[in-house]
Order: sequence, then C-alpha cells, then structure tokens
Amino acid sequence: MSAKRASIQGFTQGVLDGFRPILQRVTDEILDKVEPLGRMDVVRDLAQPLPATAIANMFGIPDADRGLFQKWSEDAARFFGDTTLDAEEDAKSANEATCNLERYFLTIIDERRMRPSNDLVSIFVAGQQDEKLSAEEVTAQCILVLAAGHVTTIDQLGNAVHALLMHPDQLNQLRENPALIMCAVEECLRYDGSVPFVCRVAAEDLKIRDKHIQRCQTVFLGIASANRDPEIFDEPDRFDITRAPGKHIAFGFGPHGCLGAGLARRELEIGLVSLIRRMPGLKLDDQSPSVRRCESVMFRGFRRLPVVFSRAQTDKIA
Ligand code: HEM
Repeated sequence: MSAKRASIQGFTQGVLDGFRPILQRVTDEILDKVEPLGRMDVVRDLAQPLPATAIANMFGIPDADRGLFQKWSEDAARFFGDTTLDAEEDAKSANEATCNLERYFLTIIDERRMRPSNDLVSIFVAGQQDEKLSAEEVTAQCILVLAAGHVTTIDQLGNAVHALLMHPDQLNQLRENPALIMCAVEECLRYDGSVPFVCRVAAEDLKIRDKHIQRCQTVFLGIASANRDPEIFDEPDRFDITRAPGKHIAFGFGPHGCLGAGLARRELEIGLVSLIRRMPGLKLDDQSPSVRRCESVMFRGFRRLPVVFSRAQTDKIA
C-alpha cells in the first residue's frame, strides 16, 4: 500500500460522519444568501463555494484566510479543468497558487503537530507518524485532496441538479420519498458523471478487443461510456433514481480509485437535499439558459446553471 493511500485513509466512516454537521452548516450558510432572491446560479452560488469552503473547514483554516485559500484552490484546480482557454496563463497561476498553498500548509502542519485537533491536517499528520512521511509529503497530500476534490465536486453537483431538473418525475419522486436520496446520488453519478475519462500509460504492449496498444502509449478510458454500458445497465440512457446502485465506476476503480468518494457522496447528498427542501418549485430558469463548460475533456460540468424557485418552505424532503 502506498504511503499516500495509507494516510488519506483518515477518511473513515467515523471521520466522514463527523464532517456532516460542517457540510450542513456550510450549505445552509450558502443557501441563506440566495433563498430570499427566488433565483440562483447553482454553479456560482452553491457548487463552487461548497467544496472549497467545506474543505477549508475540514482543514481547520481560520476564517480570515478563507478568501485567499479559496482563490488558491480555484487557481490550482483550473489548470486541470479549463486549460484550453489559456493554457500558459492557467499553468502560471496554478504554479503560483500551488507554491502559496505549499507555504501555507507547511505552517499549518507545524501548528497541528504541536497542537493536534480533530481536523483533516491533524489526521494526515497522525498518519505521517506511522508512515514516516515528510512535512512536504503531507503538504502534497493536502494539495492533492484540495485539487482532486474541487472541480470534480463542483461539476458533479451541477450535473446532478441538472439531471433532476430535466426529469421532473424523478425529482417529484425524490421529494415524495426522501429515503431515495442515496440512490439518486448514485444515479446522478452514473448518468452524468463529472469525470468522463481517466488516462493511463501502457506499461507493456497489449490488445484490448481489436485495438493494439503499444507500450508507453497514453490510453483514455471512457468512464462515462462504461456507465452507460447496456450489458451492465438496463436501458442505460434512462435516468432512474430507483435503479439499484453500485455498479457504476464514476469514482474510477482499482488502486487509483477515488479516495474522496465518501466525502463527495456526502456533499452531494447534503447539497441536493438542502436545495430541494429549501427551494420549493425549483426549475431551470427559462429566461437564462444553462451553459455547459466545453473547454475540458477530462471534466464535465456546467459554467452556469440558473434556476428559479418560490420562497415558501413546504417541501416534504427533510
Ligand atoms: C463527485 C466528485 C468526484 C468524482 C466524480 C471523482 C472521481 C475520481 C476518479 C474517476 C478518480 C480516478 C482517477 C484515475 O483513475 O486516474 C479519482 C481519484 C482521486 N480522487 Fe476523486 N472524485 C470526486 C471527488 C473527490 C473528493 C471530494 C476528493 C477528496 C477530498 C477526491 C480525491 C481523490 C484523490 C486523492 C484521487 C487520486 C487517487 C489515487 O491516485 O490514488 N475526489 N476521483
């Protein structure tokens, strides 16, 4: 087992459950701001601030530093997702942001080593003691979690809301039966996942079905396509929140499968439930079209997802 994987195993069920109140509080604070308006852009107003603020909370970042921390995490993450806009500019700001984050985390790690708390940095530092990782490696760990958990969750939350709004019968079913929420989350991940491809470099010559792949060639593996495989999923193009979950590979697979899947599932669950409960009559804003982001092959999500809703709080989901 790699040192990296071992120490991120701080994400146990118990630790994730401990984060639940933080996720709920962050989501509530975000929705408090837009609720009186009767409209919002799901991407700008919920999906973007939720993962960065949630992760900042989990890392125990002081309130005064949150703005800076969010900017650095966005600059670092943009490089992975939007590079076709201006690759050179994005690479420069990602590099600068990563250096800033590294300096920042090194200081926090020192503090936590002296005064451990129950935040994520303290959990990684405790893992460090067993695995004998250097402070730089724990720092890299923190930045990896930040980068890998940022764009992916932003995009997935937008994709999930969009899938539900495009299928009002499914949304109503969820309102009527809130116990379906985890099935709905899994179906959203399968139906419109935010990571459509992963890539690998072939370690040796191989043949997959009719394709010959040479050693060192880069291979793109279509997760989105696998998640619509008719041999695995009955009527794969149908969005059905009652589908038995468990077979999709939206979080990847094998030794490099997603280490943040549990956290992402909780963010999706809390984000969706809160949105549906607090924004009754939620629907796409027909005056302001949603816009897909199309600069990135590796991430799939929305640039804008404007919605409208009424302000009464009468929905059943709780
Ligand atoms: C819905 C949101 C998310 C999706 C769809 C997603 C998807 C994925 C996928 C497909 C991979 C495999 C990449 C590969 O095989 O090359 C991956 C890896 C990873 N993810 Fe996620 N992810 C999400 C959220 C998160 C979150 C919230 C975190 C952490 C807080 C996270 C941390 C990681 C890490 C550290 C890896 C690398 C694992 C390794 O290389 O060993 N992810 N993710």
